[in-house]
Amino acid sequence: MLRAAPSGIRAGSLIPMRGISGCRFPHHPGRASVASMTRYPGIADRTIVVTGAGGGQGAAEARVLAEAGARVIATDVTDAAAASIAGVEYRRLDASDEGDWAALAASLTESLDGEPLRGLVNNAGITHRARLGTVERADWDRVLAVNLTGPMLGIQALAPLMGPGSSIVNIGSSAALNAHYPVAYTTSKWGLRGLTHVAATELGARGIRVNVVHPGFIETPMTANAPEAMRTAQLALTPLERLGRAEEVAEAVAFLLSDAATYLTGAEIPVDGGATSSAGAKFMADRIAGA
Ligand SMILES: NC(=O)c1ccc[n+]([C@@H]2O[C@H](COP(=O)([O-])OP(=O)(O)OC[C@H]3O[C@@H](n4cnc5c(N)ncnc54)[C@H](O)[C@@H]3O)[C@@H](O)[C@H]2O)c1
Repeated sequence: MLRAAPSGIRAGSLIPMRGISGCRFPHHPGRASVASMTRYPGIADRTIVVTGAGGGQGAAEARVLAEAGARVIATDVTDAAAASIAGVEYRRLDASDEGDWAALAASLTESLDGEPLRGLVNNAGITHRARLGTVERADWDRVLAVNLTGPMLGIQALAPLMGPGSSIVNIGSSAALNAHYPVAYTTSKWGLRGLTHVAATELGARGIRVNVVHPGFIETPMTANAPEAMRTAQLALTPLERLGRAEEVAEAVAFLLSDAATYLTGAEIPVDGGATSSAGAKFMADRIAGA
């Protein structure tokens, strides 16, 4: 069994940002579009926590969920762009900090007033592109702390607040399905697959689903400084012959959080333009065709 959420709030660990008022979540009638409510059944009015929602995919996930009528608690270590999205509350949370998770759990326990927390998206992540021969211990530890320990701490802290029908989505990477060269990042995402399978097994009896989405190369601040050769190679490996958009990952996440996915747990879903499926075969086929 996962332990109950601690009740103490560590002073200073949970900092309300711009425009946030109190603990009660405001209801936003009329905010959800009919189209997105239909596309993601059951999402409306559910409380869902998203980590790393200050930009990139996390902000897109917060936006898509809010448009479907969810009460989104967007968290990040930075002053978040998500704070300006209608229907999204922003809270500062370092995903690798146990105290921050405990504080969020305590705050949610009070604000949910007996209602279950319906969703958690473990999206926060950092990359570090050193190879096996040169990666330094401090960087290795930092990447694993955010990308792997963070989701474990989040599940430990928030699963006790969940109930039947709740859904956890971990954001992995196509690097978790291959041997992508940034060794700390790739290792952390392989570990996240293991965490997903264990959590799905442990929490299934409580009706809580746990899945992992594996984005391919998505245009976000994380990839803005990727080597040009990495982009070129990725395109050569990707059947859809383009890079991905944050919204395309967010749509898959919203689906997994919704009642359209009620028998889906322990699953791994690549959102990568077919690159994982092709496993390099496109590159070879194109080479042969051009020879
Ligand atoms: N962009 C890609 O191509 C790609 C591919 C595969 C997987 N991913 C994964 O998708 C997720 C989102 O990545 P992105 O592309 O939006 O990156 P991003 O850098 O644009 O956004 C990541 C966010 O996480 C936040 N963050 C960093 N450390 C944190 C911490 N300790 N606690 C809380 N928040 C923290 C950052 O402030 C940032 O807002 C990550 O888990 C990443 O590994 C990204």
